[in-house]
Amino acid sequence: MATPIVLDCDPGHDDALAIMLAAAHPALRLLAISTVAGNQTLDKTTRNAQRICDVAGIRNVPVVAGRAEPLRGNQVVAGDVHGESGLDGPRLGPPVTPVTSTDGIGYVRDLLRARPEPVTVVATGPLTNVAALLLAAPDVAGRIDRVVFMGGSTGQGNVTPYAEFNVYADPEAADIVLHSGIPVTMCGLNVTHQALADADVQQRITAIGSPLARVCVELLGFFASTYRDIWGFPAPPLHDPVAVALLAEPGVVETTRTRLDIELTGTFTRGATVVDLYRRTGRPPNADVAVGLDTGRFWDMVVAAIAALST
Ligand code: RIB
Ligand code: CA
Repeated sequence: MATPIVLDCDPGHDDALAIMLAAAHPALRLLAISTVAGNQTLDKTTRNAQRICDVAGIRNVPVVAGRAEPLRGNQVVAGDVHGESGLDGPRLGPPVTPVTSTDGIGYVRDLLRARPEPVTVVATGPLTNVAALLLAAPDVAGRIDRVVFMGGSTGQGNVTPYAEFNVYADPEAADIVLHSGIPVTMCGLNVTHQALADADVQQRITAIGSPLARVCVELLGFFASTYRDIWGFPAPPLHDPVAVALLAEPGVVETTRTRLDIELTGTFTRGATVVDLYRRTGRPPNADVAVGLDTGRFWDMVVAAIAALST
């Protein structure tokens, strides 16, 4: 039976492919897409989620808008990476898919309470919405089977030397989710930087030959330019679909159970994910952390999802 999920995201080029994989993979049942401020402001990430549903023909999945600000601290966006719109590259028209609710937290709360079985939350943006939901409705923690989030890293960060963007944007939210008692899986840069959408991948997507495939290649083209200019990457890493793939096909992403803590106060390290891979602290394990990616299977899944949505 397909795993029911809610995808919380901040589209975002890689979030766009995560939405497509979540909608198309037969092992998953995408119940709702909730948006959060992150790569861009909430109005833009929400508009982008709508437009991705339009272009991918995703019709039966509610898009709901969550929080516009982090729980604490100043808002950071990633316009340098994702552009002014948050989805620069392709020319996409005004959204047609409606926003089902502007109270995304309340919508997901009610969805979780109404479901007969627990739901997995996949988060590919800052964890603000998930934390806000748990603070507002603690009872729903029992309705969430697991939180799988793209964020953090077992090593270097990307927005500061030791902090990855999603966790850096709202470290308190990540800490709340981590200590909620809900099983947590972290899919960090140490793995997602292996998911490079290189020329071969882009050629495979182009060969699908659909308007959706063309949009995906245009998204990747823009994403490649910013990753080259900022970090000198030879190809753009498609972070967010890795978190979806982890859930859809166990074995595509290798994980290890270990200790994860979030640095909240470090002068130079606020937002860092402190992963005790060598179990040196003696602190009890509290998370499953991604440490490996089967890139061949991963790209097969991504290409298959785009093809499936292209029919
Ligand atoms: O650090 C990469 C993460 O931050 C990805 O989820 C990207 O979309 C941005 O949200
Ligand atoms: Ca994202």
